This record gives sequence, C-alpha cells and structure tokens, in this order.
Amino acid sequence: STIFVLNGPNLNALGKREPGIYGGHTLADIEVLCRTEGEKLGFAIDFRQTNHEGTLVDWIHEAGETAAGIAINAGAYTHTSIALHDAIRAIAIPVVELHLSNVHAREEFRHKSMIAPAVKGVICGFGEQSYILALNALKSITK
Ligand code: DQA
Repeated sequence: STIFVLNGPNLNALGKREPGIYGGHTLADIEVLCRTEGEKLGFAIDFRQTNHEGTLVDWIHEAGETAAGIAINAGAYTHTSIALHDAIRAIAIPVVELHLSNVHAREEFRHKSMIAPAVKGVICGFGEQSYILALNALKSITK
C-alpha cells in the first residue's frame, strides 16, 4: 500500500533554513530516510512538497482516493488552514500530523494547530525522526 508523505511551505529550504531549529538535513535527505523506512514497513512512499495551500488540498483528496494513509508536515499552514482541516475531514484514510520541531516549545502562534482536531495523531519535536515515527504510527493503524 501507498503512503503519501506531504510537505508544505518552506520545507524545500530545509538544510539552509534555520538549521539551529530544523537541523542540517535537506528535504531530499528526509525523502531517502522515508523511502528506506517505507521498504522496511512494506509501504510505497509518495513523497511531495509544495508551497501552495490549494495544492496540499488537492493532494489530500488524491490520497483519499488512492493511498492507505498520509503523513503530513503542513509547515505554517498547520497554524492557519481551515481548508486543510476540512480536506482531512473529507477523507477516510488515517492522517498523521508531524513537525520537525517541538512547536509547543516555540512561539505562542505555533501552539495552535488547525489540523490537529482532524487527524489521527500528532508527532513533533524529533527532527527528521518525526517522519520515521509518523510512518511507524501509520503502520500500527493500517492493514
Ligand atoms: C514545522 C513547524 C511550523 O511551525 C513551521 O511553520 C514550519 C515547520 C516543523 O516541521 O517543525 O514550517 O512544521
């Protein structure tokens, strides 16, 4: 079965972007990690990034038709997007929200997630390992 790993705004700049917070790995490094973990777990990984909110909405709908689950790092749209909340609510497959950083240890505006009430569960604060943990969480709840 296929798992979509969806990445939102500014995650294309990983490695260059605030490495003290997000680490030195690039999104391409994280994609390799996910593919390796996917092989272990028996998942095909469809790994994507966009800076556009509507594209994430389209991909969530697409996954709802074709995939077994979604791991999503929605970046800053996490904190603002009712559209992403509604898109997740509109599909039946499990969605795991993830973040590299511990958003609760950062600015107040990152403490609220608009998508958290719509997802199965949330993983944050483990750097690139958050992706691995999210894939394992999906493994534990999918057949
Ligand atoms: C992030 C946390 C968000 O608050 C931030 O806007 C990001 C990255 C993370 O992975 O830690 O872009 O989702």
